[in-house]
Amino acid sequence: MDDRSQDERCGWHDNHPLPTAPPQPMLRDGDLLLRPLRGDDVEALWAAGQAADIGRYTSIAWPFTPDAARCLIAAAQVAWGAGTGARFAVILDAATAAPLFAGTASLLHIYPERADAEVGYWLDPLARGRGLARRSVGLLCDWAFTSLRLQRLHLLVDLDNAPSHAVALTSGFVPQGQEIWHHPDDPTRDAECLAYERLAPSGAGSRRKITSQRSS
Ligand SMILES: CC(C)(COP(=O)(O)OP(=O)(O)OC[C@H]1O[C@@H](n2cnc3c(N)ncnc32)[C@H](O)[C@@H]1OP(=O)(O)O)[C@@H](O)C(=O)NCCC(=O)NCCS
Repeated sequence: MDDRSQDERCGWHDNHPLPTAPPQPMLRDGDLLLRPLRGDDVEALWAAGQAADIGRYTSIAWPFTPDAARCLIAAAQVAWGAGTGARFAVILDAATAAPLFAGTASLLHIYPERADAEVGYWLDPLARGRGLARRSVGLLCDWAFTSLRLQRLHLLVDLDNAPSHAVALTSGFVPQGQEIWHHPDDPTRDAECLAYERLAPSGAGSRRKITSQRSS
């Protein structure tokens, strides 16, 4: 398939990355690597994203097919170019074993005018239970506050999603109250959520009053 037909299938053919956008960085903490999603990640991304709770608790296209994985990668590259998102592959990159594609950790939406972004994350069940979500979210938040100079990060967690509440709390997010999350395309996936926020450390820049923002 050529690039053009891929573009059209993913529905973003008139919205390519700006040629002037700086490259998306790689973030590292020991054996944990957050790097930009690449075109050759399709199979690994698709395979990692098959657990039912990923479909239930995130806004990922469901069922998550190889084509959906391809479109997610393309959309991630466009969002970075436009300054509206920063999606990272979570890679366990230990010296003693082959790198493991574990999942994604992302600024799903960046709102530059409010210095705010929505955080999202999911992991392959094979990669869970070893602190990778906590470490990935920590690395992502530190980068967002220091390099992007964001002042606020937020996320929405379904009320019954105990692992994600644990990740949010251990990552320094503070509960703000309940709200309904509306899926962008599928009303049957709307959900009652707890909203969380984490503010930039004091001294990281001027802070403005910001209202909660729901997004996909
Ligand atoms: C949410 C998710 C990423 C967590 O992955 P994980 O590998 O369990 O996360 P970690 O190993 O980094 O654990 C982070 C913390 O949560 C705790 N935790 C994990 N599962 C838990 C559970 N079921 N109940 C209570 N605490 C739990 C861990 O003990 C750890 O606490 P600590 O930092 O105090 O040691 C994973 O379950 C997932 O991908 N779920 C499906 C997608 C999803 O829900 N995404 C979030 C949408 S808001």
